[in-house]
Amino acid sequence: SWTMESFIEHTVAEIKQQVGNRQVICALSGGVDSSVSAVLVHQAIGEQLTCIFVNHGLLRKGEAEAVQHFFRDSFNINLIYVDASERFLTKLQGVTDPERKRKIIGEEFIRVFEEEAAKLGEIDFLVQGTLYPDVVESGTATAAVIKSHHNVGGLPEDMRMSLIEPLRWLFKDEVRLVGEELGMPAEIVWRQPFPGPGLAVRILGEVTPDKIALLQEADAIVTGEIARAGLNREIWQYFAVLPNLYSVGVMGDERTYAHTVAIRAVYSHDGMTADWARIPYDVLERISCRIVNEVSGINRVVYDITSKPPATIEWE
Ligand code: XMP
Repeated sequence: SWTMESFIEHTVAEIKQQVGNRQVICALSGGVDSSVSAVLVHQAIGEQLTCIFVNHGLLRKGEAEAVQHFFRDSFNINLIYVDASERFLTKLQGVTDPERKRKIIGEEFIRVFEEEAAKLGEIDFLVQGTLYPDVVESGTATAAVIKSHHNVGGLPEDMRMSLIEPLRWLFKDEVRLVGEELGMPAEIVWRQPFPGPGLAVRILGEVTPDKIALLQEADAIVTGEIARAGLNREIWQYFAVLPNLYSVGVMGDERTYAHTVAIRAVYSHDGMTADWARIPYDVLERISCRIVNEVSGINRVVYDITSKPPATIEWE
């Protein structure tokens, strides 16, 4: 659209001027905000931008590959990919408390990011995908708590870089329009929100490699079927949860004792409140059949029909 075009033009010129011939880094999460920020900054300064993508081992199926493919191959952006899965999983061993999981992941994330950034030498700017609502909220105490809770990649204190926040005047829907205008694919521009701590807060109790693998498979079926049914834009978030709950089942002549998977899907505008999504029964049925048939170790599928409040969107 006309306004998005002029926004891009204006922002690109501004970034060029601000940066000059200096170096910029960006912590890429693969989410909409950091992705659109990166592409926008790249359009302004090209090679002077280096993106760092930390794989904490808690991503969805195929996500690490998709992010690398998109930024490196399609958009030609300098990308450092760090597979730090083992580091994170080691730190998470035996940890069951949700807030401790978040804290461990957040701290480890900053550590890995700093290590990688240090290898690059002199860096003057850090790109952040801050949106207008974040800017407005950040004065209040509540907002500060919400932010520390939600932002895994908080700004390292001693990195002494200036911030580039190209989206600080935009709302989420405007960010998506900018992304489309920049020629970014729908799968990124319309990507559902994904928590920084990733699957760690969707696996209740201890996080293990086996549980991650199980959840990734089940989740891929949920997202695939929701997209196939054409529901992926109207539903705000849709995913699988592993409640760490075993139940009895039968398969053929065999009695099974295996994991339950919960499906979570909600309508929302901002994640602050949410209504459970009325997914048609035939879609739910297909999801349930496919999960039980295709993912061994799961013998039961349940659907979460709670709204927020009183429940939260995530289970932890
Ligand atoms: P809840 O579960 O609190 O989630 O209703 C509201 C929105 O925030 C996301 N969420 C997180 N995002 N780090 C994040 O970056 C987190 O620790 C985190 N916890 C929840 C959630 O996916 C939903 O969009």
